[in-house]
Amino acid sequence: MSVYRLLFNDLLARLRWRMIPLVGLMSLAGLGEGMTVAFLLPLLSRIGVAIPGKQDVANRVLENGLAFVGAHTLWQILGLVVAIAMLQGVSSIGLSWWINRLARRYQHERQMELFRAFMSARWNFVVERKAGDLTSTIVTECERLGLAFTMILLLISTTVVAIIYFAISLLIAWQAMLCLALFGVVTALAMVRVHRLSYGAGRRVAPLNSELQSQLVEQFAAFKLVKATASEERAVARIEPLLEKLEWVQTLGSFLPMMARGTLEFMAFVSLVLIIVVAGSGVGVSVGSVLVVIALFARQFPRVTAMQAYLHYLNGYVHAIETINLFMSDAEAEEEPHEPSAVSLTVHPPTSLVLRGLSVSFGGHKVLDQVDLQMPVPGLTALVGASGAGKSTLVHSLLGLMEPSAGTITLGPHEMRAVPLRSWRRLIGYVPQETMLFHASVRDNVTLARPDASLSDIETAARRAHAYDFITALPDGLDTMIGDQGAKLSGGQRQRLGIARALLTNPVLLVMDEAMSALDSESEKEVLRTLEELRKTMGIVLIAHRLGAVRTADTIGVLEAGRLIESGTWAELMTREARLFAFATAQSAGDVQPVKAAV
Ligand SMILES: Nc1ncnc2c1ncn2[C@@H]1O[C@H](COP(=O)(O)OP(=O)(O)OP(=O)(O)O)[C@@H](O)[C@H]1O
Ligand SMILES: [Mg+2]
Repeated sequence: MSVYRLLFNDLLARLRWRMIPLVGLMSLAGLGEGMTVAFLLPLLSRIGVAIPGKQDVANRVLENGLAFVGAHTLWQILGLVVAIAMLQGVSSIGLSWWINRLARRYQHERQMELFRAFMSARWNFVVERKAGDLTSTIVTECERLGLAFTMILLLISTTVVAIIYFAISLLIAWQAMLCLALFGVVTALAMVRVHRLSYGAGRRVAPLNSELQSQLVEQFAAFKLVKATASEERAVARIEPLLEKLEWVQTLGSFLPMMARGTLEFMAFVSLVLIIVVAGSGVGVSVGSVLVVIALFARQFPRVTAMQAYLHYLNGYVHAIETINLFMSDAEAEEEPHEPSAVSLTVHPPTSLVLRGLSVSFGGHKVLDQVDLQMPVPGLTALVGASGAGKSTLVHSLLGLMEPSAGTITLGPHEMRAVPLRSWRRLIGYVPQETMLFHASVRDNVTLARPDASLSDIETAARRAHAYDFITALPDGLDTMIGDQGAKLSGGQRQRLGIARALLTNPVLLVMDEAMSALDSESEKEVLRTLEELRKTMGIVLIAHRLGAVRTADTIGVLEAGRLIESGTWAELMTREARLFAFATAQSAGDVQPVKAAV
């Protein structure tokens, strides 16, 4: 389906009944405009300018109309013409406002639909795409689509007005209007090539915009690294060629409508001169006729050039609908199962979290392979293993972010796939490997999963996470803005905020994926003391590279290349003298990164 058809169908589907009053208003504007010119005839005859005989029919109709409304004198007719012109002006202004309003609403609807679809998609959908592409689609492409929508409505409106105006004008001076129609056809043919060019230029804008936005997002996200490695020039060198390409395409996109306008103005001038000469040298056409022709031409000409310009701009913007529809259908295809509402699941400890035959694959490559593990709730389970062993993948599966290719995950009486995902996730407090903080206050960041939490709940969670002291020391306490990604906090403080956030929901299970890696040994000890308290009331899954943190765990699972190669208590695994023993030996030998180095 052509992009124009896609846009037009979308327009009809969204405007539905509004299309009727819209076309009605367009017709009113066209009728008013045609009538103001038509009334030039009786006006001219009142001031003594001869009207040629050919317009007798039109003249008679107009005179009858005037007699009907009781306008006979010059001033009465003038008053009527001004009144109609005012009505026409008001309907034109109303039409412009409505068109712009509809277009912005359409843009807003498409932006919300996209954002919702992205938010409802599986985690992998976003992971596999560049953040800049997603942002560019919502911001830039939707804006271009909104403009395309405006252009198509303006085109429809101008066409409706032009047709009505043309029909009225045909009654007054059909020769002149036929000349104008001929002029329209010739210019349209002359513009075909220019249209192709602007269509091509428009098509190239979307990928370039999206690439630019991706690059910018990446460069700012890595700004610290860019500075620290003195690679500003490299960053500039990546952006510059993109801007140059965009500059060229956008120059073409905005120049072509202007070129078309210039050409049209020239052709219109030649046509007008021709009309006047032909009319004047023919069978002695009166001054009145020539005046009416010029008036018709003067009013209709801007409409023809405007139509050309709208068409060119439409050529430039219309491709946005392809990009948007593509992202939308991809996101919808990866939508998480729809759940009407999250029910509250209950788990009665003591119980356990059980993984049975859990396997996860990425594109045919098994990242977790038949993992069987039972973790006590309440209790502390530690997962250790070399980098890339699959620890985070196991956590992602626990959170339902990743769909296992085989196996089951059960917490107490609930099997993950049998309950609503949102309800399942509410049982779990998650502290990720890299703490995600928003550019907002400490309070907003901590209450992300529970916006209605009371102050005392927030304080309790902060105390349990050993974050209370540093929060109260901040300039505005809980209301301190912490900067983009928490840039105004230390790494350890960011992690403790992340822990406070997870504890605020009173989860049945607390999952910490190397959440202590940025803590100094004193803070780590404090958090470990907290975990000692928490493990009495909730299940904790702790991923840690430092083995000191896992010694007291009820169960330690050792992962290697996606397989659980051993599990048991510290004492059991040490006695076995296998993998954990090797890690521990390497670590006590003073390796900087003992677990990674041991394998
Ligand atoms: N989205 C993904 N697509 C493809 N492969 C992935 C994806 N996420 C992880 N992997 C692969 O899965 C394997 C396990 O990764 P995972 O993040 O689970 O390791 P990890 O044990 O947490 O390592 P680390 O200690 O470094 O955090 C790695 O080989 C990684 O390359
Ligand atoms: Mg990891």
